[in-house]
Amino acid sequence: MKDEIFSIIKKEERRQRTELVLIPSENYASAAVMKAVGSVLMNKYSEGQVGRRYYQGNANIDDVERTCKERALRLFGLDGGEWSVNVQALSGSPANLAVLVALVEPGQRIFSMFLPDGGHLSHGWHLPDRPVSFASKIWDVVFYHVDRKTRVFDYDRIGKDAATVTPRIIISGGTAYPREIDHRRMGEIAKAVGAWYLADIAHEAGLVSAGVNTSPFSYADVVTMTTHKTLRGPRGAMIFSRKDLSAKIDAAVFPGIQGGPHEHTIAGIAVALREASGGTFRKYAAQVVANAKVMAEELSNAGFDVVTGGTDKHLVLVDLRSRKLDGWTGAWGLESAGIIVNRNTVPYDTASSFYPSGIRLGTPAVTTRGMKEREMRRVVSWIQDVLSHVSNLKLPKQPSDRAPFLQMLSKDSFLSRIKREVSTFANRFPVPGIDRPKNL
Ligand SMILES: Cc1ncc(COP(=O)(O)O)c(C=O)c1O
Repeated sequence: MKDEIFSIIKKEERRQRTELVLIPSENYASAAVMKAVGSVLMNKYSEGQVGRRYYQGNANIDDVERTCKERALRLFGLDGGEWSVNVQALSGSPANLAVLVALVEPGQRIFSMFLPDGGHLSHGWHLPDRPVSFASKIWDVVFYHVDRKTRVFDYDRIGKDAATVTPRIIISGGTAYPREIDHRRMGEIAKAVGAWYLADIAHEAGLVSAGVNTSPFSYADVVTMTTHKTLRGPRGAMIFSRKDLSAKIDAAVFPGIQGGPHEHTIAGIAVALREASGGTFRKYAAQVVANAKVMAEELSNAGFDVVTGGTDKHLVLVDLRSRKLDGWTGAWGLESAGIIVNRNTVPYDTASSFYPSGIRLGTPAVTTRGMKEREMRRVVSWIQDVLSHVSNLKLPKQPSDRAPFLQMLSKDSFLSRIKREVSTFANRFPVPGIDRPKNL
């Protein structure tokens, strides 16, 4: 009998094909990437580094991992005499943890971007009265903030605060920050206070590799990134470090916090890195940003409060408070119409992260399907229709109203009609990993 998991996977294929995926951290990996990840490499244990394994039978694995590392350095234009890369971290959060384990003694201070201002949990997120991330239990984490009015960073202010905080490491990394981070300034600030500078470009990796966003490599000591967002590979991560730090980083990944690396994922990353090295990918990355800019502009023109007034990259953050909605009602309304976004906190949000005030939209996945500016205008017009419609419904006032509200959305004929339109529209654009070329 066939395992029911495969029928669930079929349903998920259908969902990914018929809905509009606007989550900025998601993308569609190619059929070749998926083939590498689903390969026999998953059967192998390979603790250790290339050429220095604790298990026998690793000649082919060494070739895979060596190729991946070479491609990674080449893609970002790095000299192997100055930079090293570790491709074994299982994902972005363990990659960041490994850097902290390698470079910061327990109890020392970290200076990182405040989560509601667009930072990430793995940079040591904690509440005033209790730790949340594991990092915040081990290290003393202090946050820097965006300006209340402009909602962008004031680097003079960060510099002054860093001099008072005297951290061991400064971390940047925008999960929901729509503007480019000034890596030159951040690097200078870190240097001035004797701290390491870790640039986490999890979101922008593909844009940086394509030269569409600014590279942090001239200014940072360590650069981490995920491989599954704009870089369009499998779920994974890479840690680039200046040569003198690499032995510590490798040891922090294994045996510090991990066991056997996932070589099937590393093979998938290697395939994605090759794909990202061509002119087609550079055009793709430029289109991702062009699409996001149109999306931001159209939303602004429609009267939405677009945080910072626009975007420099692949994501747009919208504060829904002026529309009398919150992120939860907005995101569920859109999902009922086949449009998938994140609910997200916005700078100086007073709401909780589960019921935040905004939504976060991104263009990497729809751009992979071949959508351009014209399609973004169509998508924004649906978003506008859906959110206007939802704001006229009976919105939940208390927690017990939420389940009936979702029921009401599922029966709403206006939203069902848009969902059908969205599905017909989305079906016109192939999904690379699903609509596989015949020769794979
Ligand atoms: C800036 C940043 N760093 C790290 C991560 C963590 O990546 P992962 O979910 O792979 O652990 C993310 C994920 O969205 C991120 O946005």
